[in-house]
Amino acid sequence: MRIINTVSALRQAVAMARHQGGVVGLVPTMGALHEGHRSLVERARRECDFVVVSVFLNPTQFNNPDDLRTYPRTAEADAAMLQQCGVDVAFMPTVEEVYPEPDTRVFDLGPVAQVMEGAMRPGHFNGVCQIVSKLFDIVAPDRAYFGEKDYQQIAVIRAMVKQLGFKLEIVPCPCVREDDGLAKSSRNVRLTPVVRRVAPAIYRTLKESLNFAQDHTLEQTHDWVVATINAYPEMQVEYFSICDGNTLQPLAQWDDSHSIVGCITVYCGDVREIDNIRYK
Ligand code: PAF
Repeated sequence: MRIINTVSALRQAVAMARHQGGVVGLVPTMGALHEGHRSLVERARRECDFVVVSVFLNPTQFNNPDDLRTYPRTAEADAAMLQQCGVDVAFMPTVEEVYPEPDTRVFDLGPVAQVMEGAMRPGHFNGVCQIVSKLFDIVAPDRAYFGEKDYQQIAVIRAMVKQLGFKLEIVPCPCVREDDGLAKSSRNVRLTPVVRRVAPAIYRTLKESLNFAQDHTLEQTHDWVVATINAYPEMQVEYFSICDGNTLQPLAQWDDSHSIVGCITVYCGDVREIDNIRYK
């Protein structure tokens, strides 16, 4: 594995790999790698001839400076995991390397980017699109791998790919969970022991809502999920949206014609956790 810190060296490495033919895969990450990332990287390794993993804590997607300040940074352990997974290149640039000039691009990706995280974290998806489009431009991957925990992020990136005409396949990968069901996340290390003990109730409640939904309306199901999680004093639901799985627009009732997903964000103490479940 090569650790590359500059855009020009990365372009060169990818150009050489392309010259030899084969499929190029990209796994964009912000570091603090865990088993969820490992599953993306291992899948990329199985499916691609040349695998690039970017490890870059992208400042432009953080609308909350405290979140950026406290985000775990584990560069050495990240490099060791990627080496173990047998990736070809770990791209670990500085902020100045990626943004020699401020990135002033503004993306308008329509309704899919305006709800949920788009509404709660102004500028977040714009920052995600800035970095992901830069990476797509530099690496020109055939496939790019993203975790389904960030369900809306995948929809937004798909919209960006369509709008900018990138020729690549977005590969969504299943969420990886702790044994007790909590979705793996780099932010989990910030949960206090007390909050960590109750946090699995998020996914447990989402799963139980599949049964509840069998004989209740969409609105009743929504309210039941929110009330069940909010009954834990350590947790506060920020939003729960039962929405169309493609457009992400909220639905008013269960409807056979849609794929339906429930997307939730919960404050667990001061840590923001997101998760989702597919109803249909
Ligand atoms: O999902 C993430 O970790 C980030 O949003 C991404 C896609 C790596 C862009 O910084």
